[in-house]
Amino acid sequence: MKYLIDSANLEDIRYGNEFYPIDGVTTNPSLVSKEKKDFAELIDAIRGIIGNGKMLHVQATAKKAEDIVAEAQLLRERLGEKFYVKIPIGEEGLKAMPMLKEKGIGITATAIFTPQQALIAAKAGADFVAPYVNRLDNITADGVQVVADIVELFDIYQLDCQVLAASFKNVEQLHRVALVGAHSATISVDLLKAAIAHPMTDSAVEGFDRDWAAAYGDKTVADLL
Ligand code: G3P
Repeated sequence: MKYLIDSANLEDIRYGNEFYPIDGVTTNPSLVSKEKKDFAELIDAIRGIIGNGKMLHVQATAKKAEDIVAEAQLLRERLGEKFYVKIPIGEEGLKAMPMLKEKGIGITATAIFTPQQALIAAKAGADFVAPYVNRLDNITADGVQVVADIVELFDIYQLDCQVLAASFKNVEQLHRVALVGAHSATISVDLLKAAIAHPMTDSAVEGFDRDWAAAYGDKTVADLL
C-alpha cells in the first residue's frame, strides 16, 4: 500500500518525509488555507521537500471543465510529472478528465462517497479516486465497506484506477482499508506516528538497552568493532 501525507503544513511534511516511507503528499483547499501562506510558494516548497520523484496531489478550484484543465496545466508545468490534479466528482470534472488524460496529466477524483461515483470517475479517466472514510463513518455509512466495494469494482471491470483512501481519524480505519486492498491511503503525520507506536515495543527496547548497558556500559556497537 502507498502511504501519502494529507497536509499542507511544511513542518509536518518535512518530518513525515524524513522518517517515513511515504509515496507523496495530498493537499486540498482547506488544508492549504489553514497555512495562510502564498499558494504558489507553498506548493513549490512542498515539491522541494519531497523531491520530484514523489506524487503531489493538488486540488483545482475552477468550476468549469476548460478552466479546470487550464489550472491543471499550470500546476503540472510547476510541479512536474508526478503531479496529480484533484477534482471533486461532478459533471464539469468528469468532462475535464478525458481532456486531462489526453494531455498526460494525472487525475485524482476526490470527495468520493459512493462506489458509483468512483466507478464513473474511473471510466472518465481518473488515475485515483479518493473516498472519505472517516466522513462516511461519521454518518454510519461504513467507510471501509465503500472502499472495499470500489476495490472490487475496479477489479471486476479491470479498470486502471487506484483507490487513494482519505479522511482518517484512527489506525483501525487505516488497517481495515489496507486489509480490503486499498492501493493507497493519505493520512496525517500524527496517524503515521500512531500506526508504528506500541508500548510493548517501547518496553522491548528498554530491556535491550538495560541488558546492553549492564554488559558494555555506554559503549555502542560501533565503539566495539
Ligand atoms: O484530503 C481530503 C480528506 O483527507 C479529508 O479529510 O479529515 O477533512 O475528513 P478530513
